[in-house]
Amino acid sequence: MSSLVPVRFQPFDLDLMAEANGRVVVIIPSEGKLGPAARRANRLTKGAVARMVASERFEKVKNGDVITLAWPGGMQAEALDILVLPRRPEQAEARKAGAKVAKLAGAKSVLVMAGNQMQTDQLALGIVLRSYDFDAHKTKVTEPVKEITISHNKPEEVEATFEPLYAVADGVRMTRDLTNEPANILTTSEFANRLAEMQDLGLEVEVLEEDKLADLGMRTLLSVGQGSVSPSKVVVMQWKGGDTDDAPLALVGKGVVFDTGGISLKPAGGMEDMTMDMGGAGVVAGAMRALAKRKAKANVVGLVGLVENMPSGNATRPGDVVKSMKGDTVEIINTDAEGRLVLCDVMWYAQDRFNPVGMIDLATLTGAIIIGLGHENAGVFSNNDVFCDAFLKAAKDEDEGAWRMPLGKAYDDLLKSRIADMKNVGGRSAGSITAAQFLQRFVKEETPWIHLDIAGVASVSTETSYAPKGATGWGVRALSRFVQDNFE
Ligand code: BES
Ligand code: MN
Ligand code: ZN
Repeated sequence: MSSLVPVRFQPFDLDLMAEANGRVVVIIPSEGKLGPAARRANRLTKGAVARMVASERFEKVKNGDVITLAWPGGMQAEALDILVLPRRPEQAEARKAGAKVAKLAGAKSVLVMAGNQMQTDQLALGIVLRSYDFDAHKTKVTEPVKEITISHNKPEEVEATFEPLYAVADGVRMTRDLTNEPANILTTSEFANRLAEMQDLGLEVEVLEEDKLADLGMRTLLSVGQGSVSPSKVVVMQWKGGDTDDAPLALVGKGVVFDTGGISLKPAGGMEDMTMDMGGAGVVAGAMRALAKRKAKANVVGLVGLVENMPSGNATRPGDVVKSMKGDTVEIINTDAEGRLVLCDVMWYAQDRFNPVGMIDLATLTGAIIIGLGHENAGVFSNNDVFCDAFLKAAKDEDEGAWRMPLGKAYDDLLKSRIADMKNVGGRSAGSITAAQFLQRFVKEETPWIHLDIAGVASVSTETSYAPKGATGWGVRALSRFVQDNFE
């Protein structure tokens, strides 16, 4: 497991600049007016900053740009990063700028001369999010741990507003670690153990084992895991930060630790990516961690279904019929449409046991959502406009792409089965929507519900603004904000 880069807040002190190692960041507005830190940097570098600002190149700079002076004379630092930012930047602008600096930083320490700059907490968050690296399985990594120092006029104030942001960043980190982890390491048992460890943060964590799941009647979930030697599990994480009698918000995650497709085996090319098929469960875990670490004043329960989808002599066959916990029967046409079989039982259990005020499920559910929305937006499906709009707003405010998709009876009709209550696939057309329709059959009419298909956004092959290649942690920030804005 990785850990977050440490951040220290210190009183604003221009004398830090000459001696600092690694990178020194000074902030100037695009008009080029130098503040105290930039003026000191200019003096130390014998006018290099002023020359840069007077240069033709500077006429083209935009807010958010970083101009680097390497090995600046008169300073110990390896680089002087001149960050162009208005005094009152937008939240996302400050965050993205921080992320840019972190990307340049490599494994070095960073000193940010923030002075009285606004949104310094967001700038720091951007640095922290983009400093993430999954090097758990690299034996040749020798670089020192990064360290971030923020030099600010009011360090205590910034530190206080940064604290909950750092908590959320740690949730994002956990989601990324889980999602990046290969399946031979992150087995269902290892996953459950890592969740159980979060009891130390004040979460109540229960691990439901196969015999219990069988007693509850979770046959569709168990049918997915029965071909694997790893036991299927459901983990329930409760955060009780709100009033005792307030019903919780429920978060439900698909936790397929590896998806071979089962007997409907996937092609070999790219199958290794299915190590991230527990991404939904990873986001639920990270969101619960964020809520616990920032001591959210709300009741939220996170439930994840942990299974491995493998072919074997004991695996589910295409054509098998299984009964869900709800009581409806499912004809399994394609064993590779397994996520919905896991989710439907966990969603039913969540409603049955907790009677939640709302339910959000997250899943790397369909390849079709990647065809539709690429890697920019998660697919959003909902039975409730108010609930859905509130989530979309939170996602937008956190700069996490989310796009609403339709639901409707005509799509639902595609799930009719000749021999059972429904089939688990609807055919090639509208694959993400029929998957969502399948799930909606397990949502009680009165439960506000959102389904997030995160197959395109959970893990990506090119870096994003806030994350290197691989797991992004998409959704942790949006969910934390959604809880904050609507339930605290
Ligand atoms: N886990 C996959 C979906 C997926 C695909 C996630 C690519 C991330 C990247 C899911 O279980 C699956 O296999 N879905 C099938 C459904 C089909 C059989 C109806 C798909 O999308 O092809
Ligand atoms: Mn599958
Ligand atoms: Zn899957």
